[in-house]
Amino acid sequence: MITHFVCPNCRSDLELKDDEYRCMKCEQIWPIVHGIPRFADNQISWSVFNEDIALAVTDIAEKENWEKAIEIYSHTLGAYTLNYIKDDSRADWHVILPIDSDATVLDIGSGWGNIALGLARWCKQIYCCDVNMMNLRLLRARMRDRGVYNVCSFQYEPNDFMRLPFPDSSINVVILNGVLEWMGVAKIDASPKMVQIEALKEIRRVLSPEGALYIGIENRYSTRTLRGQRIHGELPFVGLLPRWISNLITKQVKGEQHRTYIYSYWGYRQLLHQAGFDQIDFYMPYPSYHHPHYLIPLKPAWIKRYWLDNLSVSRTRKYKIFQRFGLSRLPFHWLSYSFGIRCSK
Ligand SMILES: C[S@@+](CC[C@H](N)C(=O)[O-])C[C@H]1O[C@@H](n2cnc3c(N)ncnc32)[C@H](O)[C@@H]1O
Repeated sequence: MITHFVCPNCRSDLELKDDEYRCMKCEQIWPIVHGIPRFADNQISWSVFNEDIALAVTDIAEKENWEKAIEIYSHTLGAYTLNYIKDDSRADWHVILPIDSDATVLDIGSGWGNIALGLARWCKQIYCCDVNMMNLRLLRARMRDRGVYNVCSFQYEPNDFMRLPFPDSSINVVILNGVLEWMGVAKIDASPKMVQIEALKEIRRVLSPEGALYIGIENRYSTRTLRGQRIHGELPFVGLLPRWISNLITKQVKGEQHRTYIYSYWGYRQLLHQAGFDQIDFYMPYPSYHHPHYLIPLKPAWIKRYWLDNLSVSRTRKYKIFQRFGLSRLPFHWLSYSFGIRCSK
């Protein structure tokens, strides 16, 4: 597989020497660790396993087999989490993206590699990047075991505005599945929104003119957040409040800022416009973007059906109630738990 990285600092060509990349212009050295280029100085711990177990799992996966490693420690995970990391149908939304046998895909925050596994057979090459080396090592072992050879991974720097090691317009499809909300956690003196916009601008830079970005993410004003569910471990209901109030409360209670920003339908539109994306289409992944068994265009008529099927009164009564009170005209699609967003330049 041909990999063509450029220097994330100055975007000049890199020279590959033994176990490092060296920038021909700024002379920055980027080491290759465990076979994975490391374009980073820092990393974020991120695993469904606690740190000791993650190390043991990675070790067994690399020396023996990914499935076996997960199996041995599966008792430390809940059934939902186990399914979440094993299910490789989680990228079934790929049908709405311009992916063909010539396409190059970049999966940012690639985690367990489910998305890459689901996409690998449909495209030419996938780059997977993450802020955590252990995740990338596990992903590499998983691909090896599954005989997938068109996936190439690299680590990138979390505590910075995103700098990708690719030339302009060189990637056909970029995936941000469950990741944009975490970008603001970076240790940078900037608002989470600013960090997210800069990351989106950088993604736009590397996207080809006919390429597309897919974002899977939660809705700020969903029926779950309105019920007080803590989507990213934040305090209940604070995500619904104006940001300055949610920051104030979170600082008082937890001693830190609220930084895992998610947005409403209109909020995402504004964010993506600010990053320069013109064409933005919304979908409702059902039951959620974690397991998108259906992808419903975010249009009132389609979403209305979903709500009718999910209210806990009998179906005929539901239709009658909806008709009688004209409820079908209400914008229920804005309350979807999560969105699948397809955007292009
Ligand atoms: C919720 S998981 C999603 C994993 C994967 N995309 C999926 O859908 O299965 C979030 C992933 O994003 C990574 N991550 C966290 N902060 C990140 C950042 N600032 N940039 C890129 N990835 C990040 C984590 O290491 C983790 O693998």
